[in-house]
Amino acid sequence: MTRPGGAAVPRVVHLPAADPPEGEPPGVARQGAPGADHPMRAVTEAVAADPSWWTPEQAARVAGFFDDLADGWDQRDGAGQGPGAVADALDRAGPCTGPVVELGAGTGAGTPVLVERIGPVLAVDLSAGMLAHLHVPGAQPVLADASRLPVATGSVGTLVCLNMLLFPDEVRRVLAPGGALVWVSSRGEHTPIHLSAEAVAEALGDGFEVTASRHGWSTWAVARRAD
Ligand SMILES: C[S@@+](CC[C@H](N)C(=O)[O-])C[C@H]1O[C@@H](n2cnc3c(N)ncnc32)[C@H](O)[C@@H]1O
Repeated sequence: MTRPGGAAVPRVVHLPAADPPEGEPPGVARQGAPGADHPMRAVTEAVAADPSWWTPEQAARVAGFFDDLADGWDQRDGAGQGPGAVADALDRAGPCTGPVVELGAGTGAGTPVLVERIGPVLAVDLSAGMLAHLHVPGAQPVLADASRLPVATGSVGTLVCLNMLLFPDEVRRVLAPGGALVWVSSRGEHTPIHLSAEAVAEALGDGFEVTASRHGWSTWAVARRAD
């Protein structure tokens, strides 16, 4: 497959689903199916396709949005879904090594499993309100924008996005050869900040191998740098 302009799009290898879900995804009975219609979905698709869309004004707006949600974030619908999916991705998509940087770490829902399975984590978030709730031994909170990370080029073994925006240029810049992006949507297609594995592959472009699967209601993709 090629993108318009001739650049190759990585093929996605889909593994069988683990722990198939039952009933309705968390929150849907109460809220309808909000993922695709949520304002954050439009932001997610826009920045993945065109990083120049992300401006200081957008960053301030998104930081304010999550500052307002920070109290009670851990009690939202589906909050418990993400860590299991992160663990499943780490277990089934090949070795993920440090240094680990978690992007949009929020209050740290996915952080303990990263510390436990890989090692110390730089937990990056744009929202000071969310980071104020992140207290995970082994994780260092860092207030920063994932589109301009304070880390050296080619220095990161594993980048993790649990319900987080994708900044493809910055992923390509910071990942070491053989390094991996772990991309997880805790409520799958019902997650506001969600991209399919194919959309992640297309945004990253040539030079990655992508493995994907489902865990319960969650979807995940691991994009490993081939070069
Ligand atoms: C949907 S929340 C997910 C939080 C956590 N990963 C979880 O699953 O509970 C998205 C998080 O990404 C953060 N975020 C959004 N854009 C960001 C950016 N450009 N750089 C760093 N963090 C960002 C938000 O502040 C928010 O904490």
